[in-house]
Amino acid sequence: MAEATDQWTIKRLLEWTTDHFNKVGSENARLDAEVLLAEALQCDRIMLYTRFEEVPSGESLTKYRAWVKRRIAGEPVAYIVGHKEFYSLNFVVNANVLIPRPETEHVVVEALEAAKEINDRPLRIIDVGTGSGCVAISLAKHIDQCKIAAIDISSDAIAVAGENIQTLAVADKVKCFTGDLLQALPDGSQPVHLIVSNPPYIGRFETETVEDSVLKYEPEQALFGGEKGTEIIQRLVTESEPMLLPGGRLIFETSPSVFDDCLQIVENSSLELEKSVKDYAGLRRVIVAKKSP
Ligand SMILES: C[S@@+](CC[C@H](N)C(=O)[O-])C[C@H]1O[C@@H](n2cnc3c(N)ncnc32)[C@H](O)[C@@H]1O
Repeated sequence: MAEATDQWTIKRLLEWTTDHFNKVGSENARLDAEVLLAEALQCDRIMLYTRFEEVPSGESLTKYRAWVKRRIAGEPVAYIVGHKEFYSLNFVVNANVLIPRPETEHVVVEALEAAKEINDRPLRIIDVGTGSGCVAISLAKHIDQCKIAAIDISSDAIAVAGENIQTLAVADKVKCFTGDLLQALPDGSQPVHLIVSNPPYIGRFETETVEDSVLKYEPEQALFGGEKGTEIIQRLVTESEPMLLPGGRLIFETSPSVFDDCLQIVENSSLELEKSVKDYAGLRRVIVAKKSP
């Protein structure tokens, strides 16, 4: 009989996979290994630590091995397991939507901050480029009385947002619209208190700085904002001006590489720059612009 140390225990599997992921240049090798194994075993990641000496069954092991191969080929873990945590909620994701990023949580934080200052209810909000619906749904979960229009140009993305809206039980607050920026809204839509967005903002000029796995697996339409990267943001600002109520805010994410250009776009508009927000890495990431009261 094989010695216990020769067996593929959870501990050994994690060590081997972490080592392998490190060799292929994975940034979060240990975390990736744990997420995949926990998913294969249908348990919480933390529970792996209480089961170190257990030898997973053939079926879980087969699944895990196939997933490890996909990860080694570069596929993001969130697409392999089919979900991703954002603002402490679990979102279904697939290749039709951007994987929610931690830096986008700053858009949620700023919107919740602004929501506290506005007394009018129900609070009316538009999320432009909703993708998985992560921003709209997080806001719906934290604002008692609100009505949110979640817009995306991709009907495949809207299908994912719709699934998350159902699963996370916010269908009474969030409604989806497919179409181009604010033109997706029905004619005669009322102005709103908040417009939030994580629009596509990578410039074609900086394509070579984007990670290979992002380019290969995430939807192109979610990434690129035009040649300069600011083309969609320029349109977003212009279209937001008439759709905001006095004192309302446009809160959007962008990247440090086009941040100054975005500030200029706001300066050239009728909105006032209220705040620039840095992300967890200390990089300028979110702009809050206010319509005069
Ligand atoms: C960067 S992703 C953000 C997704 C999600 N809000 C998040 O933060 O994870 C941008 C989203 O905008 C959508 N999009 C791109 N161009 C658009 C347009 N002109 N009108 C509406 N949505 C657009 C893309 O399909 C994509 O889902």
